[in-house]
Amino acid sequence: MSIIEAARGLRIPPLHPPRRGVFVSFEGGDGAGKSTQMQMLRNHLVTERSVAEDLILTTREPGGTPMGESIRELLLHGEDVEPRAEALLYAADRAHHISTVVKPHLARGGLVLSDRYLDSSVAYQGAGRDLDAEEITSLSLWAVDGLLPHRTILLDVPTQALEERRDPAILDRLEQAGLEFHEAVRQEFLDLAAADPERYAVIDGTLTREEVHAQVLTAVAEVLSLFDPTFEPAPPTRHRDEQ
Ligand code: TYD
Repeated sequence: MSIIEAARGLRIPPLHPPRRGVFVSFEGGDGAGKSTQMQMLRNHLVTERSVAEDLILTTREPGGTPMGESIRELLLHGEDVEPRAEALLYAADRAHHISTVVKPHLARGGLVLSDRYLDSSVAYQGAGRDLDAEEITSLSLWAVDGLLPHRTILLDVPTQALEERRDPAILDRLEQAGLEFHEAVRQEFLDLAAADPERYAVIDGTLTREEVHAQVLTAVAEVLSLFDPTFEPAPPTRHRDEQ
């Protein structure tokens, strides 16, 4: 078979939410308050709803695995990366994260709260950079075998307001990218949300933390009812030399 015949494009598996467990992702510009809101949701579930701590996995992309943290360091604090290489690194981080951390937790019936998922790639690498948003979407969906969250919470904050929230002394590579880039990213997130209102909940991130939190609770109420009460505890971790 010639290389042309072999190159039929990436096979995108059917898009699907997880069969067990609940998967919620948080998206938005840098400084929109995603990590604060994830923490508030986690605390609420543990203290007010008596959800067992080990049922909730809070994780992030890039990162979320030891290899992912190395990729994160390269992407955010390393040298400039060529756009295709950058897109592949985010996809590689995501493939590894989903298969080794997120899917096992979901398969046990757990709840996953992820700080960013593939919509970030579409918005940042697709709209913000020179690459095509459709190609980035295909690449990411291939990397995760079609897995989509039950719910994606978009914390929307106007670009100028986000700029004012950030400390210029500690900006990473993407945060330094300028207003026009961040405006394109914001618009792409809003377009993605408008195209898929079933999965997305858009929340005004300029409200107070408590107001946003209340809206997050409303946004996840329905999907949390999918929760599997027969959550299986994680098998004990075995050391490499015991295997
Ligand atoms: P984030 O975790 O929000 O940064 P911080 O720790 O500063 O809050 O996100 C890290 C950066 O990575 C952010 O600028 C967005 C970018 N990013 C992409 O460009 N593509 C992606 O697929 C992901 C997941 C993140």
